[in-house]
Amino acid sequence: MTSAGERFARDWAALARIGRDERTGGYRRYAWTAADLELRAWFAGQARHRGMACEQDRNGNQWAWWGDPGPGAVVTGSHLDSVPDGGAYDGPLGVLSGFLAIDELRERGVRPARPVAVVCFADEEGARFGVACVGSRLLTGALDPHVARGLRDADGVTLDDAMRKAGADPAAMRADEETLDRIGAFVELHIEQGRALDAPVGIATGIWPHGRWRLRLRGEANHAGTTRLADRHDPMLPYAAAVLAAREAADRAGALATFGKVTVDPGGTNAVPSAVDGWLDARARDEATLDTLVAEISASARSSAAAHGVDVELCTESLTPGVAFDDALSGRVAAAAGGLPALPTGAGHDAGILSARVPTAMLFVRNPTGVSHSPAEFAETADCLAGISALGAVLENLACG
Ligand code: GLV
Ligand code: MN
Ligand code: MN
Repeated sequence: MTSAGERFARDWAALARIGRDERTGGYRRYAWTAADLELRAWFAGQARHRGMACEQDRNGNQWAWWGDPGPGAVVTGSHLDSVPDGGAYDGPLGVLSGFLAIDELRERGVRPARPVAVVCFADEEGARFGVACVGSRLLTGALDPHVARGLRDADGVTLDDAMRKAGADPAAMRADEETLDRIGAFVELHIEQGRALDAPVGIATGIWPHGRWRLRLRGEANHAGTTRLADRHDPMLPYAAAVLAAREAADRAGALATFGKVTVDPGGTNAVPSAVDGWLDARARDEATLDTLVAEISASARSSAAAHGVDVELCTESLTPGVAFDDALSGRVAAAAGGLPALPTGAGHDAGILSARVPTAMLFVRNPTGVSHSPAEFAETADCLAGISALGAVLENLACG
């Protein structure tokens, strides 16, 4: 019989080759691209290989069922998409661990009294269309399907077009009470993404409120060699002011603020830009702090834009309230796993979205370097196996107890 370690190594290697950029070693697994379709086929293959029924819901989320799909199900899983040049573990570890935990239970002859499912949520990172957790937000009604269909990627392709091209039906997208009603409890396993966990496995207490904003700055293109500084309307200057303000305001508030994406038009070395668009990611321990942080960054951008004769607009692209995971469920999960250290996180997860509608908890697997959203993201195999065993114990407790 194959050991748990051998099984993990084999399945991890098969998954690890999909969507990997050979040059950077990072993953580019964007929603509704060829890599995404390959990942969907991988998920369906994992289900088939275990004799589990596999279905894709109206919002593009995939479900694999141990037992008949129905109410009271114990659901685990995560996502398979990535940020640009993301790591191997963020998302996939939770999906594969769900399947491997079920293998462990079956090997031990466990017979669940309730259905158990592994889910893979569509487009958790929002790397292509800008809004994170699209699949879980649509499922729970937190994202208007009309707005979702109109989201555009960097090439102007809408989510509607991308789904059609991938053979999915965007017209079917909407809040899905029938699917939601089946979930008795959801437990997501995920790699921990900071340096906050000093044991192989931990449990999440909650998620900081966070959001994404687009800073649109419109100035005037002109010649870099002939336009006097006093005559310029350079949108790069208020952008720079906003970046520095983000760092300073976040530092003062004990919060986090990042400009990780920027586009410059027309993008010529010898031209004053006509437009700069920067995307702000901001997170804080509570909503009031987050509001103040974003207001301060906005004020700095506006005052610099006014000084340079540049038009400015700050649009909210997504806003996710803070989450406190279900106390009763988390207590039961921690006890079933033999007692676990508890920690909050600043990272967003589908579990956070689901927690508004169903009892939800999260397990974290130790991240020895704290690096994530990078090709250098890493977890020791022994810790991954500890996570799978803990998840197995949790699923058994919830599905049999
Ligand atoms: C998701 O990984 C996020 O926190 O942005
Ligand atoms: Mn992520
Ligand atoms: Mn993730």
